Amino acid sequence: MVKLTEEIKNAFSKVKTFPVATASRDGIPNVVPMGFCRLMDDETIWIADNFMLKSLANLKENPHVAIYVWGPDTGGCFQIKGKVDIIDSGEKFEKMKSIVHAAKPGLPAKTLIEVKISEVFQCSPGQGAGNKLF
Ligand SMILES: Cc1cc2nc3c(=O)[nH]c(=O)nc-3n(C[C@H](O)[C@H](O)[C@H](O)COP(=O)(O)O)c2cc1C
Repeated sequence: MVKLTEEIKNAFSKVKTFPVATASRDGIPNVVPMGFCRLMDDETIWIADNFMLKSLANLKENPHVAIYVWGPDTGGCFQIKGKVDIIDSGEKFEKMKSIVHAAKPGLPAKTLIEVKISEVFQCSPGQGAGNKLF
């Protein structure tokens, strides 16, 4: 597992909507906007599944995600890759549901996608673009 640096955590905190990419078992890619991506600790991201169809189907057969962290205020761009657990009951699930419902009571909050971060890459253009940071 890797631990995000303060620079990357700060960038993460500036983003409102994250592009979340998954792939089927056969490698067919899928990318969607996700607003509820929360950094729970230095190596864990929670994504709330409210409306996922293809993303969830993909994650059930291929538990890998890629997310990039960029916005006008991030001061850089970082690509995060990780492996997920799909959680639909228990303490973590209930916690995700209560966070989602505190923000917007009507949302389904049907599954918690817990991402354990495995790799981070430089994603800004120029020198070092694409390089693995850790
Ligand atoms: C700005 C924005 C934020 C969104 N945030 C979420 C989210 O946090 N969770 C979610 O399940 N869907 C969210 N959605 C909706 C999904 O992106 C949308 O339902 C998408 O079609 C799911 O695609 P899929 O079937 O490929 O998984 C958001 C959409 C937008 C435009």
